[in-house]
Amino acid sequence: MAFCKLLLTVLVLLHNSGGLLGNEVRSSIIGAEDAKKESWPWMVHLNMTSKDSKLEKWGCGGTVVAKQWVLTSAQCVANYDHLRSFVVVGAYQLQKAAHRYMGIANIVQYQHLGNSNKNDIALIKLKKPITFSKDVAPVALPDKDDTFGPSSECWITGWGEVGNGVPLKAPETLQQLKISIISQSTCKERLPQIASNTLCTNDSKGRGACKGDYGGPLVCRKGGKLVQVGVMSSGGCGPKDGPGVCTEVAKYLTFINDYIHRPGKAPAEM
Ligand SMILES: *[C@@H]1O[C@H](CO)[C@@H](O)[C@H](O)[C@H]1NC(C)=O
Ligand SMILES: *[C@@H]1O[C@H](CO)[C@@H](O)[C@H](O)[C@H]1NC(C)=O
Repeated sequence: MAFCKLLLTVLVLLHNSGGLLGNEVRSSIIGAEDAKKESWPWMVHLNMTSKDSKLEKWGCGGTVVAKQWVLTSAQCVANYDHLRSFVVVGAYQLQKAAHRYMGIANIVQYQHLGNSNKNDIALIKLKKPITFSKDVAPVALPDKDDTFGPSSECWITGWGEVGNGVPLKAPETLQQLKISIISQSTCKERLPQIASNTLCTNDSKGRGACKGDYGGPLVCRKGGKLVQVGVMSSGGCGPKDGPGVCTEVAKYLTFINDYIHRPGKAPAEM
């Protein structure tokens, strides 16, 4: 998750000089910060390896949506090797072993076309059901008519890069960032080709998702709880990268519910 180092330095200086800025202002600019433990129990890490001879490796985010299902982006699971790739649940610091590794049985993709934001959503079926606990629990999904916009309170979480090409430092503590949605018309001015069924996040401070965060959630407050409004798909990685783009979960509820609530429809294991 990226944040703008220049702004950070300037603000820390202002703050240290006993300026007018209170804690609240300071923390809202710093951007990504260490998550509170057990605040995001649906958060999973995908540790992926390609199925070709290059054995390329990449990380992604994802969310627990049911006992045996994880939601992520289609790009995260393209060309993956199901034996060498795995899902980590209950992780907080990736380099500490207090979490569980789950094998991948199969992947269901919505008709995702190539390297685009269009229908960038997929479900991972785990080999075994997850045992839920205080640090592993499913995320709530929105209702199909729910709308979220610039005034919603939203967050993204991930273990991705903290700047373009800069990995998260050991012990790789989950990062959280409060972020706002921008209107689709504002987003279109910046990204004219943006696919439908997407939501964009405000990048005005150079903050947002980076490599390794994609596939993870954008959650927003709905009444007293958080629901997963988006799956991070691209963008957001620093001042030059443009708005973050998420796949809008409310538009894919039929796809998701079809699989997670109807065992008969699940694909055979590989
Ligand atoms: C995936 O797991 C391997 C083995 O535990 C580790 O060396 C590697 O850094 C992980 N990769 C990612 C992207 O998390
Ligand atoms: C994005 O955030 C900046 C800084 O908080 C704010 O000034 C701007 O109005 C926001 N843009 C939109 C489109 O919400």
